[in-house]
Amino acid sequence: MVRLASFTFVVLPLAALGYEQHQEPFSALPDAKTPSKSIAIVGAGSGGLAILKTIFDLPEDVRDGWEVVLYEQRRDVGGVWLPDPPGPLPRPPKLPESPLYPLLHTNTPHPTMTYPGFTYPPFTPLFPSHEYVQQYHADYAEHYNLTEYLRFHHKILAANWVGDSVGGKWDLEIEVQQPHGPPPPRISRRSFDHLIVANGHNHYPHVPHWDGTEGWLANTPPDTPKREIVHSIYYRDPARYANRTIVIVGAGASGRDAALQVGQTARVAYQSLTPTNEPTPGAKVVPKPRIAYFTNASVVFEDGTSLDDVDSLILGTGYHFHIPFLSPPHSSVLSVDPHTTFNSTSAPSLITNLRYIFPTHKHIFSLAPGIPPTALAFVGLPVLVANCPSDIAQSLLIAHALANSSVLPNHAQMLQELVEREDKLRAAGLDPYYVGHRLVAESESDQDYQDGVVQYLKDVGAIPEDGKKFVEPWRRLGRGKARLLARAWQRAVQLGVDREWLEGAQTEEEWADVMERLVEWQEAYEEEHGIPEFEDQSVWYL
Ligand SMILES: Cc1cc2nc3c(=O)[nH]c(=O)nc-3n(C[C@H](O)[C@H](O)[C@H](O)COP(=O)(O)OP(=O)(O)OC[C@H]3O[C@@H](n4cnc5c(N)ncnc54)[C@H](O)[C@@H]3O)c2cc1C
Ligand SMILES: *[C@@H]1O[C@H](CO)[C@@H](O)[C@H](O)[C@H]1NC(C)=O
Ligand SMILES: *[C@@H]1O[C@H](CO)[C@@H](O)[C@H](O)[C@H]1NC(C)=O
Ligand SMILES: *[C@@H]1O[C@H](CO)[C@@H](O)[C@H](O)[C@H]1NC(C)=O
Ligand SMILES: *[C@@H]1O[C@H](CO)[C@@H](O)[C@H](O)[C@H]1NC(C)=O
Ligand SMILES: *[C@@H]1O[C@H](CO)[C@@H](O)[C@H](O)[C@H]1NC(C)=O
Repeated sequence: MVRLASFTFVVLPLAALGYEQHQEPFSALPDAKTPSKSIAIVGAGSGGLAILKTIFDLPEDVRDGWEVVLYEQRRDVGGVWLPDPPGPLPRPPKLPESPLYPLLHTNTPHPTMTYPGFTYPPFTPLFPSHEYVQQYHADYAEHYNLTEYLRFHHKILAANWVGDSVGGKWDLEIEVQQPHGPPPPRISRRSFDHLIVANGHNHYPHVPHWDGTEGWLANTPPDTPKREIVHSIYYRDPARYANRTIVIVGAGASGRDAALQVGQTARVAYQSLTPTNEPTPGAKVVPKPRIAYFTNASVVFEDGTSLDDVDSLILGTGYHFHIPFLSPPHSSVLSVDPHTTFNSTSAPSLITNLRYIFPTHKHIFSLAPGIPPTALAFVGLPVLVANCPSDIAQSLLIAHALANSSVLPNHAQMLQELVEREDKLRAAGLDPYYVGHRLVAESESDQDYQDGVVQYLKDVGAIPEDGKKFVEPWRRLGRGKARLLARAWQRAVQLGVDREWLEGAQTEEEWADVMERLVEWQEAYEEEHGIPEFEDQSVWYL
């Protein structure tokens, strides 16, 4: 293994912090040739694996001499689908490594969650438990020979851009945990030309503020469990809530699952909803409006009702868009301001208001002044999407723009496109800085977004026009009918015919066929039994 002279190694007095200095070995290139381009990827979830694979799909002569390294702080691939390590769950303010809970199953059929061309194994249940999804990511990494580029137990602490809007380098500070050894971790530093961030957005809990919580928490009545307010990122086991009175806040994917599971075990479970939320179908919960405030004795709701026997609140209130290694005090690339008055054209840097990272081109490239767009890209920012295919669409644009930055429009054009998106959202009565990366606009569904990104590459001649849409029709069907399919699958399981339905399904077309037939089977059943048509809304995660 050879060290490349072109990489700067900055010595800082880290010994004072109890860190050991360490220099990263450069293993991705076979000889001492200086790489023509060095690329750091952060995160080995769906997004990070997608960009890694897509870069290696570029023609060999195009990526000749590129060095690619993927840093992942955890022990394996899979991101949110990789369970907690053994040992006790961290307690606030420490965060768990993942929001995953043992009973987690997908809420979308797995054929719609795949990377194009790589299916789940035969007989995978249509709505699999989380183990299948983690294994799928591990199989993908293995199958496409990505493993040698992965650096586990490497956490990016800081990423700073040393340069200007035309060129420069990323200076990365990396904490390397010894997998089996004791602390302290080592710190290493390396520089890269490009940084691709796929750090996920289900890691930093959003905890709303209500007046009176401190007094309520401090006044647990005698002979009852200690009162608590916990975000769903800490939710693991419904048995813990046996005999307790619970309020679940929210009706996104986390709130829904908590309602379904805790509703079964709690003495009473309430679900606090906004006026537009629907109560979780099938959950044993009593609907309540939004919480207004707390008193020492009770939880008070917006309709003036109150509850004085609540033991625990589970907050399915979502997550923040937050990238600590790009933000103060570690870096000045991404400022954090929930109340920012800057907009996409006036922002002096990238900004997150915790719902939206702006300005970016197509939710992918930074349009911040002072950094070239191809120097900093994000994979996986969009919300309400099927991640793996969306990650591949985004990765195609990134890989081609890395190969040839002229593939992208110029900075002013990209900014104009962003302003137009924001205007369209406003015209639809939505606040773009609140909607953020949620693909909710009529003109911007998950699949339209993916098709648009890939069509752009065809239009500029970066990839051949094949007359096809990127998103196959069966993916649209499977997402659009996800809830109907869930009811079909549940019925098949109850009747003990679930394996029969999966018999022979192996290729994408065969899985698509299973979904189509299940939809027909269930629609006929629901019509025959006069079951009212459910609104099959787009699927909401979190
Ligand atoms: C509970 C839950 C249920 C879900 N269910 C579904 C579903 O049924 N269907 C569906 O389509 N989607 C679902 N989703 C959406 C899910 O987020 C996506 O499917 C997808 O897995 C996200 O992948 P990602 O790579 O973007 O992020 P993540 O999976 O979060 O991966 C990010 C990775 O980056 C690493 N990382 C972060 N910071 C650093 C750092 N500083 N240094 C090094 N590494 C770092 C993390 O350790 C992590 O491994 C669900 C999400 C959650 C939370
Ligand atoms: C992975 O590497 C093996 C061994 O070098 C090779 O045979 C195989 O074709 C590679 N797989 C892919 C998908 O490139
Ligand atoms: C609420 O409880 C706190 C102690 O936890 C106490 O100091 C305060 O006076 C109480 N408030 C009321 C209105 O009873
Ligand atoms: C719940 O309460 C009932 C009745 O008070 C009691 O019999 C039971 O053991 C309790 N269960 C748990 C898990 O505490
Ligand atoms: C952004 O803010 C600037 C300065 O406040 C203002 O002039 C401009 O019109 C705003 N742009 C948009 C698209 O709202
Ligand atoms: C780079 O992209 C531009 C714009 O699409 C194109 O005109 C040019 O030929 C490309 N260069 C190479 C080397 O492919």
